[in-house]
Amino acid sequence: MNIAIGSDHVGIELKPVIIAYLEELGHTVEDFGPFSTERTDYPIYGEKVAKSVANKTHDLGVLICGTGVGISISANKVAGIRAVVCSEPYSAKLSREHNNTNILAFGSRVIGSELAKMIVKEWLDAEFEGGRHAKRIEMIAGIEQENNQ
Ligand code: RB5
Repeated sequence: MNIAIGSDHVGIELKPVIIAYLEELGHTVEDFGPFSTERTDYPIYGEKVAKSVANKTHDLGVLICGTGVGISISANKVAGIRAVVCSEPYSAKLSREHNNTNILAFGSRVIGSELAKMIVKEWLDAEFEGGRHAKRIEMIAGIEQENNQ
């Protein structure tokens, strides 16, 4: 798959570890920055990755900040994005199977690199189940439309 990745200055050290892991799994990865440890703002990178996934340049996105919270909230402001912040693999897997998430976020201050890799693997291996879940995804899209996001 073609995967977009981004972080902030707090998530930047974990990012190359995840890029290497994604490549090891056979995926193509594009890094949307930042490219230095200088303090920056997570909404910039959350939006860049989210736009690239929303316009289908990339299939999926991965975002890393201190907690994964700010960067996932930012990504979720882009129409069509369903970003999940996870610190364990069960929710990551179910977020794909039931919620068809297209961006995975996690926090470099919350989880270590091995757990992060396990979460990434579970998330990528899972598939959207459709059926009753599809209707709920349509309802989410409806909320987005009604509220002009
Ligand atoms: C940056 O200090 C920190 O707020 C950010 O990395 C993230 O945790 C926000 O949600």
